[in-house]
Amino acid sequence: TGELPTITDPESEKNLWEAINILKTTEYNVAFPTETVYGLAGSALNDNSILNIYKAKNRPSDNPLITHISSLNQLNRVIFNDSNSAGDNEWRNIPEIYHELIRNLWPGPLTILLKVPKNSNLSKLTTANQPTFAVRLPNHPVARALIALGDIPLAAPSANTSTKPSPTLAQHVYHDLLGKIPLILDSGACDVGVESTVVDGLSMHNEDIPLLLRPGGFSLENICKMGGFKNGCKVESVLKKNDKGEEIEKVRTPGMKYKHYSPNCKTVLFVPFSHTKDEDKDLSVSNLEPKIKNAMLQQLNSAPEIKKVGILTSFKFDKLPIKNWFADSNIKIVQESLGHDGKSVQSNLFRLLRKLDEDENVDILFVEGVGEENEGLAIMNRLNKAAAGNIINF
Ligand code: TXA
Ligand code: MG
Repeated sequence: TGELPTITDPESEKNLWEAINILKTTEYNVAFPTETVYGLAGSALNDNSILNIYKAKNRPSDNPLITHISSLNQLNRVIFNDSNSAGDNEWRNIPEIYHELIRNLWPGPLTILLKVPKNSNLSKLTTANQPTFAVRLPNHPVARALIALGDIPLAAPSANTSTKPSPTLAQHVYHDLLGKIPLILDSGACDVGVESTVVDGLSMHNEDIPLLLRPGGFSLENICKMGGFKNGCKVESVLKKNDKGEEIEKVRTPGMKYKHYSPNCKTVLFVPFSHTKDEDKDLSVSNLEPKIKNAMLQQLNSAPEIKKVGILTSFKFDKLPIKNWFADSNIKIVQESLGHDGKSVQSNLFRLLRKLDEDENVDILFVEGVGEENEGLAIMNRLNKAAAGNIINF
């Protein structure tokens, strides 16, 4: 698990070494691409480097970071201080519950929780003083090369300002963190588009049922299947409680809880009644049209200052003549399609939220939600937070 990818372009190699140099010799942070979203990296072993991450993002200091590694060997050697763990011993620091999951899904958008070892070099700021730490082996060649060549585990949250949608393009990082970091490694758009799935196999209550703390790039269905979990796994939001009944994100006041992935403009989420298969009769477009139209007009009537409306469609709304509904008004409509399959919606989600909010400056955003199976669970998790309670069921 974790061979070093080769970077053949000399310009890229030069940039990579510049990033490594910054990470090794300064306390500044570097933004880098992963397959999920762009990350903001600092040495997971260095307090000041981690402090700067929290500062740059304006992140609450007790929300722990994910540590990114390039191989199991590095995890054993650098984090567990265990240099004799090659070959048969490679797995000895990892609880058995994770083995199949790791064999199948690393490198990739999977983060697991491990106990912080006694003699660990990990900064207490990386873990926010938790007894556990989150770790992931990313699948992006630039991320892997950065971690492997520098041979430092990198603590990296998403490279956005706290509460904003995560960055899936280098320009999103630039928008949020200009003047706060010296370097962004730009590798174009991130494939997956939402953050990694966080799995907790340590605090299982009764049976062998691991908890899904954050739905993400690997679906719940995929995690259950690939992890070989006979009794499945259970979704538990990180915003709720851990096994000791403590709030995991305790700095968030109840009102703050939902402010996450949030555009500046009011966002209204349309939630489908069930998964919108085309053959579903009562979800036919003609049946939907008056419902959706009235709901949108009602929103606009109650806010006469609205001049520009953003609309993000996915499976159904694409077929509605939404622009015609507003043809007689002064309201401008900007409409974008998230795509027609879960993977596309996932990968376009944050980019289009930002496009309509930050580039188009719409006054209100209507988003068509999706069913919660497969990619839908992560998509709706992010959209529900973005909408902060502005929900219309259809
Ligand atoms: O895809 C990703 O995971 C991206 C890329 C950059 O790798 N990173 C990312 O990091 O999303 P961040 O910091 O935005 O999200 C980390 C999540 C948070 O919800 C945090 O509360 C949770 O992981 N977390 C970290 N350590 C934890 C721990 N010891 N126990 C419970 N949750 C933890
Ligand atoms: Mg984040």
